[in-house]
Amino acid sequence: MLFGTFTAFFMPDTVEKSRGGGVIAHYREYLPVTDATPIVSLGEGATPLVEAPRLSNRVGCRVLLKCEGLNPTGSFKDRGMAVAVSRAIENGATALICASTGNTSASAAAYAARAGIRSAVVLPAGKIASGKLIQAIAHGAHIVAIDGNFDEALGVVRELGREGEFTIVNSINPDRIAGQKTAAFEIVDELGDAPDVQILPLGNAGNLTAYWAGYREYEKIGKSHRSPRMIGIQAAGAAPIFFQRVIKTPETVASAIRIGNPASWEFAQRAIDESRGAVQIASDEEILAAQRWLARNEGIFVEPASAAPIAGLIKLAAEGADELFSENSVIVCTVTGHGLKDPEIVARDFQRSAPVSADAKAVRAAIMN
Ligand code: F0G
Repeated sequence: MLFGTFTAFFMPDTVEKSRGGGVIAHYREYLPVTDATPIVSLGEGATPLVEAPRLSNRVGCRVLLKCEGLNPTGSFKDRGMAVAVSRAIENGATALICASTGNTSASAAAYAARAGIRSAVVLPAGKIASGKLIQAIAHGAHIVAIDGNFDEALGVVRELGREGEFTIVNSINPDRIAGQKTAAFEIVDELGDAPDVQILPLGNAGNLTAYWAGYREYEKIGKSHRSPRMIGIQAAGAAPIFFQRVIKTPETVASAIRIGNPASWEFAQRAIDESRGAVQIASDEEILAAQRWLARNEGIFVEPASAAPIAGLIKLAAEGADELFSENSVIVCTVTGHGLKDPEIVARDFQRSAPVSADAKAVRAAIMN
């Protein structure tokens, strides 16, 4: 009864039926929910799939950007969080916990607030982009910074999860993966078939695993005729899958994917192998150049981790990766998080000039300067 009231409060019928009602409302039959599951949603999903004409021109095939930064908390994590938190509430959870490089914690904090339960987030001290940390603070999460990296934080969270007091909402929770596969559904629904190639940043490797599950599921039931080649891009200083070894001290400017021992490594590797895809690396310089180029040439501002697939694509195209794509290929790059998540990265290179007097002549002179 309590949950019945709860559901009605969160998801009025009219909203539930529209696309804006969130991923559970839209893709219910593909998700691990029942009529008894109280839906916790912030209207995630239904993100724009935007043509990238200048990038297409640059790499020589049609490229579209799946703009996941337009989710409620500014990253793709919300898709999986909606499902994981709804299921957690159904199972009587009173507190969520996650390790995070930032975005998972922002999303967990927001969905916990929405559901009216507590959240605890375990973060590598000093390595979280400011926008993400601010979100966790704003939503009232219990924030614990550890003297260690993401992989160590996840180790701690796994241990705490075993004690049963907290529900883990990292992507080791299968409900997260289930929710995140809806992005692949949306892409196929919009294009009428799967793209030839899907490129994603690769951190803890849950999202690539989720996309592959989504594409395969849609192909199996005849919603698409094929599944794409899956290409994961890692930062050169945090590239365990590329180098095929655990990286003890991962380092990259793309803090979201600063991960040395991905939890979904095997699943992602299988997806890449089965799809005849690839893993590529991009240096910090290439990632930041891609971020800047995308913002200035396509009008789309993404955080550094989300620029990794762009950097990787540009690199593959320059190397002439004929075995992966050709000029007729349709490529979807998922840009996973909004640029405003990490303002310092951009502000770093911006020289603030002294104010000029408030008249047109002085302002024109300053512009022309
Ligand atoms: N892009 C962004 C913006 C991310 O925040 C993450 C992961 C990824 C890509 C990589 O996705 O881990 O599924 O391979 N962020 C996690 C977090 C680790 O804690 O926010 P993945």
